[in-house]
Amino acid sequence: MIDSEERLDRGKNGCERTYMLKTNRREFLSYLLAAGPAAATGSWYRGFAQTISSGPARVVLDATRTRADLDRRLLGSFLEHLGRAVYGGVYEPGSPLADSTGLRKDVIDEVRTLGVPIMRYPGGNFVSGYHWLDGVGPKENRPRVLDRAWNSIDTNQFGTNEFMMWCKQIGTEPLLAVNLGSGTPENAAALVEYCNVSQGTRWSDLRRQHGVSSPHNVKNWCLGNEMDGKWQIGHMTAAAYGLKASDAARQIRAVDRSVHLVACGSSGPFMATYLEWDREVLEQCYDDVDAISLHRYYNNTTETNGDTSRYLAMNLDMERQIQEIAAVCDYVRGLRKSPKRLSLSFDEWNVWYRARGGDGKGLEAPKLLEEVYNLEDALLVGGLINTLVRHADRVRIACLAQIINVIAPLMTSKERVIRQTIYYPYAWALHHARGQVMDLQLESESYEVPRLGHVPVVDVAATADPGTGEQCLLMLNRDLSNERELAVTWTGAAPSRVTALETLTGADLKAANTFEEPNRVVPQRLEAPKPAAKMTFRLPPRSYTAARLAVT
Ligand code: AHR
Repeated sequence: MIDSEERLDRGKNGCERTYMLKTNRREFLSYLLAAGPAAATGSWYRGFAQTISSGPARVVLDATRTRADLDRRLLGSFLEHLGRAVYGGVYEPGSPLADSTGLRKDVIDEVRTLGVPIMRYPGGNFVSGYHWLDGVGPKENRPRVLDRAWNSIDTNQFGTNEFMMWCKQIGTEPLLAVNLGSGTPENAAALVEYCNVSQGTRWSDLRRQHGVSSPHNVKNWCLGNEMDGKWQIGHMTAAAYGLKASDAARQIRAVDRSVHLVACGSSGPFMATYLEWDREVLEQCYDDVDAISLHRYYNNTTETNGDTSRYLAMNLDMERQIQEIAAVCDYVRGLRKSPKRLSLSFDEWNVWYRARGGDGKGLEAPKLLEEVYNLEDALLVGGLINTLVRHADRVRIACLAQIINVIAPLMTSKERVIRQTIYYPYAWALHHARGQVMDLQLESESYEVPRLGHVPVVDVAATADPGTGEQCLLMLNRDLSNERELAVTWTGAAPSRVTALETLTGADLKAANTFEEPNRVVPQRLEAPKPAAKMTFRLPPRSYTAARLAVT
């Protein structure tokens, strides 16, 4: 596997272009700058009204001022054939913890309890060399295959139908990726036919022959993965990929018109082709797709020099990326005079920088990418969730990469499953954030971070569920030494009860949960302020806090 610096170099060396750009670079970049940041406050934080010099941070909550419905798919996750994610994570036949089909029951319970709404599968880099036909039909006939993305052996004992079965058990919707690396648009359309057509065609009848009589009806599909990266099997130019994606989309829609299709956007801002890739791809396939993907992994090294204050501001870099890619989509929309507005699919995001090596040395289920997360990682993951929630009007799908063992909130041993630190902010958003995203204007003390501008010390996102009358506040305190207050004023109905108030904090930012010490970093209850039209939440130093309130 490739680390971000390597990718950057490869990106720099590898961006030949084979067709004439319709716009010159300078014109394009000046458009983006004009459409760019929240220039008024000099911050990428959406809804940061102003810096104050002292006192509590402040927000006003008005349940009639909402930004978007919170599409639950914003809180999805990702399962790749990689390391011990599938084999030894989800699927372990013969284990006393597995059911009769080989699925780990303890893992099913954990993921079902989390309530993940959508799960991306089967990759990732893996998908670009994957033949889906290898993973269906009688298990004894399935080939052992060398996965060239991760140099590992895949036994193919777990494939599309096993994944669908797992999705049913955990109560999630699938987001399937097709192979547009080594695979053809024809093969991609065949998989859609296998999954979504009831019967009477070659591939739907094959599914029925495999014992699955009802179609899976998969709605959301990714057209390949990270095709801008030199590390990707089948990597190609933006123009070539845009044409291939357009062809695949048209063939897929001939099979099922109702699907939602996501084109591959840039693998991240570190790419030399960042934004231009997205523009060139969309110039080829805008009319055929519904969304474009964004990916991003954060680290506390190259971009921050290990400075935690800077690290905890990195979710503003995610805000920046969202705003930049949205600007590119709207630019191409303008060029094409299209009535259609693309949504964004942030279908890979997480912290990932320590367990980078991706060479499985030709083994089955090798230990790869088993990142151990600490407290500061969990705080940033909380901030990243706040950012996604604030952009729920544009980002309709997002996937925490990944779900189990591989850069994941959950880790298995032969005997058990444990929760990493990042599990908690993710679980709180899944359990408490519901309904609509509130349109907040935050006033807070702030500090400066290069590239990101003013970073508010307190970061907040809020939702309100008109159905239940419940509201949720997700709050990050970036102050590493001091408690901070957030004063919340309700303009309409005031809270009558605080139904949950939990925080993740601790003295040691590097503390992590391990199999030896699985409860080193766990949530703590906070004393709730009295319910009223104005409430002040006291946020511990270096903390992420979730509050749930009944508002009547
Ligand atoms: O999630 C791990 C890998 O990161 C994925 O396979 C790939 O898409 C990205 O580079």
